[in-house]
Amino acid sequence: MLPSYYEFFNPVKILSGKNALDNLPYELEQLGAKRPIIVTDKGVIKAGLIQVVKSAFDSSGMVIGAIYDDVPPDSSSDVVNQIVAVYRENGCDAIVAVGGGSPIDTAKGVNIVLSENSDDLMKFEGADRLKAPMKPFIVIPTTAGTGSEVTLAAVIKNTAKNVKMAFASHLLFPKIAILDPRMTTTMPPHITAMTGMDALAHSMEAYTCLQKNPLSDAYATAAIKLIAQYLPKAVENGKDMEARMAMANAATMAGAAFSNSMVGMVHSLGHATGAICHIPHGLAMSIFLPFGLEYNLPKTEAMVAELLLPLGGEAEYVKVAAGQRAARTIVLVRKFQQTLFDLCGLPRTLKEAGVPKNKLEEIAKTAINDGTLSFNPEELDLNDALNVLNEAYS
Ligand SMILES: NC(=O)c1ccc[n+]([C@@H]2O[C@H](COP(=O)([O-])OP(=O)(O)OC[C@H]3O[C@@H](n4cnc5c(N)ncnc54)[C@H](O)[C@@H]3O)[C@@H](O)[C@H]2O)c1
Ligand SMILES: [Fe+2]
Repeated sequence: MLPSYYEFFNPVKILSGKNALDNLPYELEQLGAKRPIIVTDKGVIKAGLIQVVKSAFDSSGMVIGAIYDDVPPDSSSDVVNQIVAVYRENGCDAIVAVGGGSPIDTAKGVNIVLSENSDDLMKFEGADRLKAPMKPFIVIPTTAGTGSEVTLAAVIKNTAKNVKMAFASHLLFPKIAILDPRMTTTMPPHITAMTGMDALAHSMEAYTCLQKNPLSDAYATAAIKLIAQYLPKAVENGKDMEARMAMANAATMAGAAFSNSMVGMVHSLGHATGAICHIPHGLAMSIFLPFGLEYNLPKTEAMVAELLLPLGGEAEYVKVAAGQRAARTIVLVRKFQQTLFDLCGLPRTLKEAGVPKNKLEEIAKTAINDGTLSFNPEELDLNDALNVLNEAYS
């Protein structure tokens, strides 16, 4: 059944393909930029990926204004301020994020502070707080997971309060996302696995959360189909260009889906666990996904049953009786987790991920105040959150 009303918006131009990155200087020029700052992190530098970006500029006549390469995982408002200073000192006029969700979201924070001509990112936390037009902003993802290259959201840590702050505005969308498989082939297996599970969580939550609509459904199911087929291949052989291209596209489609339909309790619990115990976002997603699907079943059984088709394929869907399909979807998600554990040791439980049991209460308290919970199909109070966390522990 179609919702009586919905909105869907995704204004990001996508360039996808081997060597797509070579168009970067041209696209910057089209946006009126002359001196971009590149925002990245040490892992991306170590993987040699900035060299690929630099060579794209070789015959272009455009110069790189500055490179900031010190974004930490789960970046913070302090880092945003440092990058703003580098941008201003070097007379930059555009932002290019090269990396996973950490450099991308940090670059979004930098764009907020610069465009609003402010020095305090915190003032803009929440939804629709931005007014000024943004600086030209291009994203080159080097992981295939967050989808941040096509989302209106940024998640940045408030170091003082030890919570992840969320920012959402249609002004935060990048202008262009470049999906070039050369940029993800260097990802090690465990990062490939966890970031890929983030994309699976985005698509499955997008398909079941309160703001779902026919367009987000189309993106979400297309993403699930690709992830089911290609994530194990990308983990097994990082140089498999077809698998890398498929995962880059899947993560982007999952991002477009959830940027419109939003995500729910898997992300509420994941943000809280990430902020308190510093486990990578994608790993938290992988652990919580089956529990979130299970918890919401009273409200979402029909939808989760439909997900068996993109996840398990047609033969599987036909084989399973209609009333068993939702349960089977969750079984397949757990099998998928096990496959990733077998391939690269991706932890399946909070215990395996090294989360101390005595932190569960604090995680539950933080999770029930996370903004994403308002889009979850089922209510979740402190006790419920604690129960789910205990189940996910071992
Ligand atoms: N804005 C959104 O819509 C959104 C959605 C989901 C997650 N997030 C945020 O994204 C962040 C996580 O991003 P992530 O999962 O992409 O991880 P990440 O950006 O933190 O990167 C993880 C690690 O992988 C390394 N790496 C990245 N690409 C590589 C490559 N090609 N080769 C070798 N190493 C590489 C990095 O150096 C880093 O050490 C979290 O802060 C999370 O909250 C944002
Ligand atoms: Fe996510």
